[in-house]
Amino acid sequence: MSRFTFITLFREAIEPYLNTSMMLKAQKIGAAEFDFVDLREFGIGKHKSVDDTPYGGGDGMLLRCEPVFSAVESVLTEGAKVIMPTPAGEKWTQKRAQALAGISHTEISAKNLRESITKESELEKKPNEPNRHFIIICPHYEGYDERIMSMVNYPISVGNYVLTGGEIPALIIVDSIVRLLPGVLGGDSSAAIESFSDEKGEMIEFPQWTKPAEFRGMKVPEILLSGNHEKIARWRMEQMRKNMD
Ligand code: ADE
Repeated sequence: MSRFTFITLFREAIEPYLNTSMMLKAQKIGAAEFDFVDLREFGIGKHKSVDDTPYGGGDGMLLRCEPVFSAVESVLTEGAKVIMPTPAGEKWTQKRAQALAGISHTEISAKNLRESITKESELEKKPNEPNRHFIIICPHYEGYDERIMSMVNYPISVGNYVLTGGEIPALIIVDSIVRLLPGVLGGDSSAAIESFSDEKGEMIEFPQWTKPAEFRGMKVPEILLSGNHEKIARWRMEQMRKNMD
């Protein structure tokens, strides 16, 4: 079971997504559990203030450290990992998502591809999942007091652009971890053979088609209709190599 605790002022921006589709399934099968801490409850003074102006001057308000420290300490468990989305963080990648989900990268080979077609794969079957606890601080306002970083294990950037708060990046990070937890996706191998899941994190998945075999003159490649698993696996390997050129 992986537990994800969101520390946020805007629970309503996060919760609906977690109660939809795969994130909901992850909860139902007991792979993930989500809970919330209202940062406002740890605000200072009569107005429960959580922000203030920056020392040295400048525009905007910064998240104060005391409410964040108190909020994290109120839910901290042994071994919990504290994540905070910030543009100053390390780039979020599939490899990092795999590491936090506790799975290793996939050997991309024709054998694994064939197993993914014939569903023989034992990849990702892990009966005894350890309990994990992630605490995700969602900053808001123009910035945060730098001292907050002293309690963060994983400062993470989701890309070179600036969002108004940490709620969307928090969902990006959590979604990409949760979908990798055993049992969450349909097939055991669907998370194993997919884009960026190789050791270098550079592989782009092969293209795929579903019914109908022909649509407005666009045909599904003949080989995929052949039923020859060996050949299909080799063809998919070639396509992946092409995608990476
Ligand atoms: N907060 C604002 N922008 C962000 C980004 N690009 N990544 C992570 N957190 C952020």
